Amino acid sequence: YPPNLQMEESSGLSRANCRAKGGAPGFKVAILGAAGGIGQPLAMLMKMNPLVSALHLYDVVNAPGVTADISHMDTGAVVRGFLGQPQLENALTGMDLVIIPAGVPRKPGMTRDDLFNINAGIVRTLCEGIAKCCPNAIVNLISNPVNSTVPIAAEVFKKAGTYDPKRLLGVTMLDVVRANTFVAEVLGLDPREVDVPVVGGHSGVTILPLLSQVKPPCSFTPQETEYLTNRIQNGGTEVVEAKAGAGSATLSMAYAAVKFADACLRGLRGDAGIVECAFVASQVTELPFFASKVRLGRTGAEEVYQLGPLNEYERIGLEKAKKELAVSIQKGISFTRK
Ligand code: NAI
Repeated sequence: YPPNLQMEESSGLSRANCRAKGGAPGFKVAILGAAGGIGQPLAMLMKMNPLVSALHLYDVVNAPGVTADISHMDTGAVVRGFLGQPQLENALTGMDLVIIPAGVPRKPGMTRDDLFNINAGIVRTLCEGIAKCCPNAIVNLISNPVNSTVPIAAEVFKKAGTYDPKRLLGVTMLDVVRANTFVAEVLGLDPREVDVPVVGGHSGVTILPLLSQVKPPCSFTPQETEYLTNRIQNGGTEVVEAKAGAGSATLSMAYAAVKFADACLRGLRGDAGIVECAFVASQVTELPFFASKVRLGRTGAEEVYQLGPLNEYERIGLEKAKKELAVSIQKGISFTRK
């Protein structure tokens, strides 16, 4: 392999024998599943992030190709590729943030739960690697069904004795990104000005947009509320059907993943007031995991915010969401105890 696919840069022609040592300060980030539909644009966008000094790209296929390609971008992060299970430990050692989009995506007619059996095993293996090689890293888990994979990861970390709930975050940012876009469309606003909290989980009715808390403050008719809630809950299916068998959301997901990862890195750096929605260990409801706004800091999700006042429509939605979430969470926990 070319030099960037080995752990040490060793062409002999590089005057700085290890750019990472002498280069700009920054964070070390690994992407597991980096050659996939999400992984590739995610890798490209993370290579453009000035907070990243080292970018490790791991996959069980095609990691060398993606790494060679991305490594030619003239941005600061040093890129290294890792192919297959034997290289997982090298990919993970020393990482500050690990982003996981590894696994199979949905096809038309499938729910996120249908992915459970394959993705659960993949997430378990990858998290065992994290527990061993970078137990202090922040983990951004994208692989579906997030409502079950996050509890799986938590169980793996508990078993290894490395579990810190603050550092395990299920990525629900795409629901927020979609909600901002669809709400802006209805209100005739620029989506960059809109902030919609989305709580609960990341699947069907567990995705609960809090339209009563939209910023800037606004109100919706019952028809608008119904339309927006349905469209936000089914945004993933809209893409799965449009792609007609070629996978699920990848480009908007990569964008959302980078928006979230960047928030985590700014938190790690010590920036104040970084607040985003994520699916985390929670005491906001009676369930052990729940998505809501969290404050990101040097140690991860340092504060999990309460839901705030809900209207009647949202209270009914919350009950439905909790019912389905409880089953998905239990399914994840049971998987690790088999
Ligand atoms: P994809 O099939 O295009 O890519 C998945 C990648 O994971 C492939 O390159 C594959 O080789 C790799 N992979 C498989 N097993 C692996 C292992 N053991 N270790 C490392 N890499 C492995 O799928 P796509 O579209 O990128 O989706 C990935 C996951 O993200 C799916 O589970 C999908 O459901 C989920 N997703 C989550 C969203 C969210 O909002 N949280 C939104 C969209 C998708």
